Amino acid sequence: LAATAAAAALVLAAGAAHADCQDGETVIKFSHVTNTDKHPKGIAASLLAERVNKEMDGKACMQVFPSSQLYNDDQVLEALLAGDVQLAAPSLSKFEKFTKKFRIFDLPFVFTDVDAVDRFQNSPDGQKLKTSMERRGLTGLAFWHNGMKQMSANKPLIHPSDAEGLKFRIQQSDVLQAQFEAIGANPQKMAFSEVYGALQTGVVDGQENTWSNIYGQKFFEVQDGVTETNHGIIDYLVVTSTDWWNGLDADVRDQFSTILAEVTQTRNAESTSVNEHNKQLIIAAGSPVRTLSAEQRQAWVDAMKPVWDRFKDDIGQDLIDAAVSYNV
Ligand code: LMR
Repeated sequence: LAATAAAAALVLAAGAAHADCQDGETVIKFSHVTNTDKHPKGIAASLLAERVNKEMDGKACMQVFPSSQLYNDDQVLEALLAGDVQLAAPSLSKFEKFTKKFRIFDLPFVFTDVDAVDRFQNSPDGQKLKTSMERRGLTGLAFWHNGMKQMSANKPLIHPSDAEGLKFRIQQSDVLQAQFEAIGANPQKMAFSEVYGALQTGVVDGQENTWSNIYGQKFFEVQDGVTETNHGIIDYLVVTSTDWWNGLDADVRDQFSTILAEVTQTRNAESTSVNEHNKQLIIAAGSPVRTLSAEQRQAWVDAMKPVWDRFKDDIGQDLIDAAVSYNV
């Protein structure tokens, strides 16, 4: 009982943004894993809740549970299917159990920047991916951006051989596993909420993530600097249960869809600058940020890109070609 009360107090304290829902309102619980402040996803989730609670007052009520308070990403999709929460926005790397198509987003060095990711996601091929898991009960509503991934470890990483033999935390993704194996490292799948502790205690030596996650989770404090590799992306799918979504009153679904589309457009346009701000905060905190020469970066491309071949049948060569075509 004490533990339950303590957990409830924690949720209340951290979730000051929780709206009190009234009788008759459709309750939309949104569980995610990042911080809310200075984070592309955290800010977007808060804005979505603010607008839903204001503009849909009496019809719908959104409660956001950030920072893995309720579920980590491995649990939240099951929780959606069970009806315990109604909305989540896991990174695209976390849908492995539901579709192999999303592996396109984990292949290293596919997209040169977030604008290219945006063009691909908004193309007919990209939009089709949102509904590719409906057979499994999940409906994607929007892609949200985070940004390009950087690499860090407990030693400087300049050449891919610097990573040899090191243990790297990865998300639940076989592509990311293959990516680190390609440079002779030992990847370990692990929930986001456990990464700081694992880096601090030496359970893993390094990790890959965006500036906003490296700053927001304080990974830089327990790493020997960060190398600006821009080798891949972390983006999100705002996802819900197909049954729940189809069961909503049409006017609730339509108004919510409109608000979500507007929030998506507004916040996606800011994701790169939010990450840049986090990069500057890391530099200001005194952590070395290392950049690579064109030649040094090419060595990472040469080492990691062969991974594409292994996953081309899962993803489809056509989809890979389409994705690449959005780099200009
Ligand atoms: C991670 O697990 O590293 C990220 O997917 C976390 C997040 O949601 O940005």
